[in-house]
Amino acid sequence: MTDIATIPSRPPAAEIERRNVRINVLRYNPQERGSVPHLQTYELEEADGMTLFIALNEIREKQDASLQFDFVCRAGICGSCAMVINGRPGLACRTLTQSLGPEITLAPLPVFELIADLSVNTGKWMRAMSERLQTWIHLKQEEMDLSRLEERMEPDLAQRIYELDRCIECGCCVAGCGTARMREDFVGAVGLNKIARFRLDPRDARSDEDFYDLVGDDSGVFGCMSLLACHDVCPKELPLATQIAFVRRKMAAIGWK
Ligand code: SF4
Ligand code: SF4
Ligand code: FES
Repeated sequence: MTDIATIPSRPPAAEIERRNVRINVLRYNPQERGSVPHLQTYELEEADGMTLFIALNEIREKQDASLQFDFVCRAGICGSCAMVINGRPGLACRTLTQSLGPEITLAPLPVFELIADLSVNTGKWMRAMSERLQTWIHLKQEEMDLSRLEERMEPDLAQRIYELDRCIECGCCVAGCGTARMREDFVGAVGLNKIARFRLDPRDARSDEDFYDLVGDDSGVFGCMSLLACHDVCPKELPLATQIAFVRRKMAAIGWK
């Protein structure tokens, strides 16, 4: 039996020594005349379980209402709070300040259009990529028949598709990608992952030749340098390395035909 007297009690909140963190934010608003990129430093007391999202909100509420950044879900689901955290793309709402040193530097994701400060337009980029890769199911039958029962799918296959569908389009993989930094038209790991996902789907009528037309060049899978930063930074831990290698192998086989 546990001796209750031996369990150390939690010190009262007032006695817990809290550290101060300094947060340097790269600030710039391209919409504002005279705005120049600069680092602005904020200092605040770290609270238990404080995420960068909480810290940024506290700064905006108590220190600087003009600071711009995005968030929706606060739970790693919407992908909108992605930013560069100490040089590495990640989600602000899933990053504890305690996991970082006392000095933290935040910058907006590169590649995407900057709105202001830490806010970028990932939606515009993702939409262009989705339209280009036609990231929707191309049904086999010509006519949509709403009275038909949904096609059966083996649970294992449904699970494999679901695994790839977990992408939240946060843009971290694109921001960490050398090719995406050099080529505006590169579809990124997020795009290649979508090709892998629709290739798997038995309801999609497209053949490998059709997918080759979409990603069989340097703006697609052959532009990828395989350094796998995308795999390292994906906050949803998608198996990007495996999927990119798989798509490359399939597309190379079509190219050699
Ligand atoms: S693949 Fe990962 S890093 Fe890339 S957009 Fe999707 S969730 Fe974000
Ligand atoms: S492996 Fe390919 S897609 Fe991933 S970061 Fe490197 S170049 Fe970009
Ligand atoms: S706020 Fe939605 S992922 Fe962070």
